[in-house]
Amino acid sequence: MNFLLTDEQDMIRKMVRDFAKNEVEPTAEERDEEERFDREIFDKMAELGLTGIPWPEEYGGIGADYVSYCIAVEELSRVCASTGVTLSAHTSLAGWPVYKFGTEDQKQKFLRPMAEGKKIGAYGLTEPGSGSDAARMKTTAILDGDHYVLNGSKIFITNGGIADIYIVFAVTDPEARHKGTTAFIVEADTPGFSVGKKEKKLGIRSSPTTEIIFEDCRVPKENMLGSEGEGFKVAMMTLDGGRNGIAAQAVGIAQGALDAAVGYAKERKQFGKPIGAQQGIGFKLADMATKIEASRLLTYQAAWRESEGISYGKESAMSKLFAGDTAMDVTVEAVQVFGGYGYTKDYPVERYMRDAKITQIYEGTNEIQRLVISKMLLAD
Ligand code: CAA
Repeated sequence: MNFLLTDEQDMIRKMVRDFAKNEVEPTAEERDEEERFDREIFDKMAELGLTGIPWPEEYGGIGADYVSYCIAVEELSRVCASTGVTLSAHTSLAGWPVYKFGTEDQKQKFLRPMAEGKKIGAYGLTEPGSGSDAARMKTTAILDGDHYVLNGSKIFITNGGIADIYIVFAVTDPEARHKGTTAFIVEADTPGFSVGKKEKKLGIRSSPTTEIIFEDCRVPKENMLGSEGEGFKVAMMTLDGGRNGIAAQAVGIAQGALDAAVGYAKERKQFGKPIGAQQGIGFKLADMATKIEASRLLTYQAAWRESEGISYGKESAMSKLFAGDTAMDVTVEAVQVFGGYGYTKDYPVERYMRDAKITQIYEGTNEIQRLVISKMLLAD
């Protein structure tokens, strides 16, 4: 067993860390304040190959492994969780299902431009009436000649409005419940597709989250992803990997908060010495660092399993659960280390705390992760 990163993984970490420090961090606070997505940052990520890390070169990617991909999401999230999730949703939720279930034509037409960063991807599963109970979706897709006609709406769509390609799940056979669900690739310029309400959020504010609406939206038959009735499986398998991307985001947020807290604990003096040298704060930092390291190991392990072709659904539910809870705990503690200053916008820790909360909610709440893990334990 070897816990060292490979040369390639190490190189990717250094590259993304530099990029994050120089190109992402300087505007993170301002973009959060203004709720502004910056396409230029995404384009620069594309130039570095970050928009297609795990996809083979024949599909426009750089052919690295899922650990490298998690490292990239982690390093971006360490300075800006919004940029981290933009990449995570684009790669895990939109690129992955096309890579896994797409035909060769679909891969060339949709995966390649996403991998090259020419197009942005998104994933539409959640509806107003079906969040955790995803199988109860109401959006319909009815076959009419060479097209499926989609009607309905999806909410809480990460990359909504900025994406060019949406992976959408709709009911093709209402009698068959989850076995009557089908996945589609919907291009943003398809007539009948529109972007609805943009959410105003507590955190990840420079990552747009919107509703998407389908009104007699005619999607060509050849854009069906996988086979008819296979959509729920596509959705669930996509989330298996997506959840580990969110775990990586959570690790990055927590690490960013710890970095800030350690820096402050060395500088800030009270009672005649740095607050970090006082056990109340020193022990807090130790607990934060330990939880982050455990989260990172769970995340890299799940990513490594995926790269090796070993089952990883349970492991990525565990990594998302543990890392999401860790990000929340650690960021709350980071604010505490900063005291009154931590509660102000003069320091980034309040942003980290706001950003951390979503990692316990999206891509399946942490209660759903416990459900997934316990079902697998009991099925063994
Ligand atoms: N891989 C493959 N197949 C799977 C699977 C998986 N991981 N999980 C379930 N399935 C299959 C089952 O084998 C079963 O198939 P059969 O009927 O052929 O046996 C079928 O799916 C139904 O399984 P369940 O009975 O377990 O399904 P359920 O209705 O009880 O739901 C659930 C299970 C885990 C609760 C699921 O509904 C779920 O994950 N809910 C949370 C949804 C979620 O994570 N939403 C996040 C949306 S994305 C997002 O957050 C926004 C963003 O952009 C970031």
